[in-house]
Amino acid sequence: MTEASSFLMDLKRLVFFAGKGGVGKTTVSCAYALKCSKEGVDILLVSTDPAHSTDKVFETTLGNEPSMVREGLYAKQIDTEKESRKHMKAIENEMRQVVSPETLSNLKSYLEMAHSSPGVEEAAMLDAIIDTVRDMKTRKIVFDTAPTGMTLRLLNLPKFLDSWSSGLINRRKEDLERLGKIDGTESKTPIKDPLVEKLKERKRRLDFGKRILQEKSSIVPVLTPERLSVMETTESLKQLKELGIDIPGVIINKISKGLGEERMEYEKKVIEEIEEKFKILGRIPMMEEEIIGTKKLKDVSKRLNFL
Ligand SMILES: Nc1ncnc2c1ncn2[C@@H]1O[C@H](COP(=O)(O)OP(=O)(O)O)[C@@H](O)[C@H]1O
Ligand SMILES: [Mg+2]
Repeated sequence: MTEASSFLMDLKRLVFFAGKGGVGKTTVSCAYALKCSKEGVDILLVSTDPAHSTDKVFETTLGNEPSMVREGLYAKQIDTEKESRKHMKAIENEMRQVVSPETLSNLKSYLEMAHSSPGVEEAAMLDAIIDTVRDMKTRKIVFDTAPTGMTLRLLNLPKFLDSWSSGLINRRKEDLERLGKIDGTESKTPIKDPLVEKLKERKRRLDFGKRILQEKSSIVPVLTPERLSVMETTESLKQLKELGIDIPGVIINKISKGLGEERMEYEKKVIEEIEEKFKILGRIPMMEEEIIGTKKLKDVSKRLNFL
């Protein structure tokens, strides 16, 4: 590591940049990944945005598997549409093992409908994130997608699955005991119900997802110097904070320079308000052009005060 890095705040191993579309999440993710690799911290950048732009920002081609962008910097783009279909197929296969063919055919049409519903893509994305983390080979991973309210609801699912599966287990036990009394073959071994096993497996996965968010992740909101942006950020952070997720500070992007005096004065006031609420981990001015290519990314990465 270079000397400069000793002054930089060190985020956790998994980093997410949050914020509304267009604020600069992809830009900052790429600049951060570049910075880490330059400081000798190897990193994997994962994009799950359906409108992939990571490849364009780095002026390269990226696929589902990590490829090396430069030394210490790997990147992949997950196809959420494909992942979501795979996710559905996996559920169908799991169900095939435990339900009758007739039920399955009903279930399939239901699953097809559900495939286009909100939540499925989030679930697929969460699965992809979990798999990526399980397979972690770099010092850090930066995800160019932040957990949304939907993801957080998914992460709270284990609690629900827990009571559901214990309810199921109890009912099954009662059924089997009753049967045992009828035919006199009372079983003493605990019952392994395939459905209950699947539920437990799902629960374990979601528990893992929640744990990695709580213990290994930092979420850094990106916002613009506008009141609406500050309000939205404050609001959306509530849920994350309740879950106990590390939010070390925010990045202010697209700060005007050389604009009219009134606008500058307005932004100055908003930035003061942001300073009162959050620790500021980076201030990025509005650049003359959009940020494409390593050279421009480097300009941005110099303004990030963390690794
Ligand atoms: N500081 C900046 N100066 C100039 N253009 C910027 C800046 N930050 C982002 N952009 C541009 O704004 C657009 C949206 O940024 P992007 O990072 O894709 O946002 P998000 O991923 O949050 O939707 C892109 O064209 C990007 O190059
Ligand atoms: Mg983006």
